[in-house]
Amino acid sequence: MIHAADDDRQVTHDEAMMLVRSFLSAGVDRTVDSIGLALKLLAEQPDQYAVLRADPSLARNAFKEATRFDSSSHSLFRTTLCAREIAGQLIGKHEKVMVFIGSAGRDGAHFDDPDAFDITRKIRGQMGYGVGPHGCVGQMFARLEGEILLQAVAQQVLDLQPDGTPETRLNPGLRGPARMSMVLQ
Ligand code: HEM
Repeated sequence: MIHAADDDRQVTHDEAMMLVRSFLSAGVDRTVDSIGLALKLLAEQPDQYAVLRADPSLARNAFKEATRFDSSSHSLFRTTLCAREIAGQLIGKHEKVMVFIGSAGRDGAHFDDPDAFDITRKIRGQMGYGVGPHGCVGQMFARLEGEILLQAVAQQVLDLQPDGTPETRLNPGLRGPARMSMVLQ
């Protein structure tokens, strides 16, 4: 699609190369991690997997809920353009701010019973894809990929079991299973 846009001169050749790079670097790891975290949650919480098996059309919401509950992007950074007070804290001009979007998903002021993983929950104001001008441009793809995968699993796998304890990859910005083994029946 991007190379076709390049051929049609809708973007320059240099822009096309940068777009491909952005989509691959920003889009692959987070999607793989989010799908891994969603499968891990469903395997660990068989009651929720049973709800999904009974109604695979909940796959889209299950993926959204997994991203709220355990985000593959748990923090992002911004640099302030001017001094601002936020929640009583003065932040100066040109300061680096680390925003914990992962913890925003567990904000009890916004979500009822935030520490419960509930694939039927109505999810609004979820921060897992960021917000504003730099919010995730690929989130529609990501949700579709997650939905298709979880739906196919729910339709074909009777029982999803963790096989041992998954290893979590620790990284200040990205979170996901480094190694995870499962038994599918
Ligand atoms: C579940 C999977 C994904 C998650 C959790 C995710 C999350 C995020 C987050 C948190 C940001 C930063 C937003 C900000 O700074 O405000 C971001 C940016 C971005 N994402 Fe995603 N993303 C996912 C999948 C994808 C996919 C599939 C693509 C491309 C096909 C993609 C492309 C991008 C790009 C290009 C940016 C940079 C946007 C900018 O700086 O203007 N992402 N994503």
